[in-house]
Amino acid sequence: MPAYIQPESANTQQTFPSDLLKGKVAFVTGGSSGICKQQTLALMQHGANAFIIGRNLEKAQKAASEMSNETGNTCIGYSCDVRNPQSVSQAVEQAIKDFGRLDVVICGAAGNFLAPISAMSANAFKTVIDIDLLGTYNTIKATMPHLRKSRGVYIHITATLHERATPLQVHVSAAKAGVEAISNVLAIEEGINGIRSNCIAPGPIRGTEGMKKLSYKGTTSEKSSPLGRWGTFTDINNLTLFLVSDAANFLNGQVFRVDGGERHVQPTNDYPNNLIEFQTLIKNGLIENREASKQRQAKL
Ligand code: NAP
Ligand code: COA
Repeated sequence: MPAYIQPESANTQQTFPSDLLKGKVAFVTGGSSGICKQQTLALMQHGANAFIIGRNLEKAQKAASEMSNETGNTCIGYSCDVRNPQSVSQAVEQAIKDFGRLDVVICGAAGNFLAPISAMSANAFKTVIDIDLLGTYNTIKATMPHLRKSRGVYIHITATLHERATPLQVHVSAAKAGVEAISNVLAIEEGINGIRSNCIAPGPIRGTEGMKKLSYKGTTSEKSSPLGRWGTFTDINNLTLFLVSDAANFLNGQVFRVDGGERHVQPTNDYPNNLIEFQTLIKNGLIENREASKQRQAKL
């Protein structure tokens, strides 16, 4: 039993005006599910229209239609693989045809799975680098001319796991560290053109695909978080709204962690036995292998 469980945060509608982003347009990679879908919804609840991209067209269009219905603003879902620069450029062209401008870009498309370096092929490592790191670069290149015009804002979704070495996460750690480096350079190169660039680094967030993939059954618990719970979509949304608002006009080149202080906790997780037992955990179905992960996602 944790000593204390932090209550849920106030939702964005209690804190920010409903017309905060009226007339503004958000372009969100990975916006058809999870954290980035909820960020898109929050931006739309405060007046923005949105263009979301993912590889799966049906999933993106369904999410877009749900969010349009819920908010009364317009969201368009589009199929695009962020690994392919032409595909991202086409998506941006379409967003400009549809909305005429871009004000907020969220780079959130990502991939993950658990694997040690010893069992990770070069292509497996490259796959995550291509989605998370190259995908962010491709998105920045394609959207930058439009953010220069609007003096817009980039938010990159990174993580906290690369700040301390996290086993089974070398691909994501390298990619997210790289994304933070890109954001910092972007902040100083494009700050002079009125563009701000910051990162949101979520800790474990409830109800996400990421945490489904990363949780070892029985070994990852909300109770071990300093505030007695994991983060919620609302926690991320509040920071997102703040960062795109004029209240954050001097915030540039920063990484904002939404982890309840979790990264400062010294691990007590039975290292290195947990690592040695990795193969047993996979064998017993406590960590998803590639096939199990594909089968579960196919059912979604
Ligand atoms: P999620 O629901 O799986 O979101 C990832 C999104 O990226 C999906 O909508 C997916 O759509 C899209 N995507 C994947 N590969 C793509 C590609 N090649 N091109 C275009 N889109 C692609 O995961 P999540 O857990 O909410 O994570 C969202 C972000 O938060 C990620 O950047 C993740 O690293 C970060 N994060 C999450 C946590 C957590 O607790 N969940 C913690 C730290 C950081 P398609 O499948 O349709 O392509
Ligand atoms: N363990 C080890 N290697 C794995 C793996 C696992 N669980 N899952 C995939 N790989 C390897 C594959 O074997 C392949 O390498 P190979 O050619 O040497 O065999 C490589 O990774 C690419 O796999 P593939 O399935 O072709 O990639 P994809 O582009 O179709 O999918 C993923 C990308 C693997 C990242 C997939 O999990 C995905 O689409 N994720 C998006 C959702 C997500 O992860 N959300 C959480 C965000 S935090």
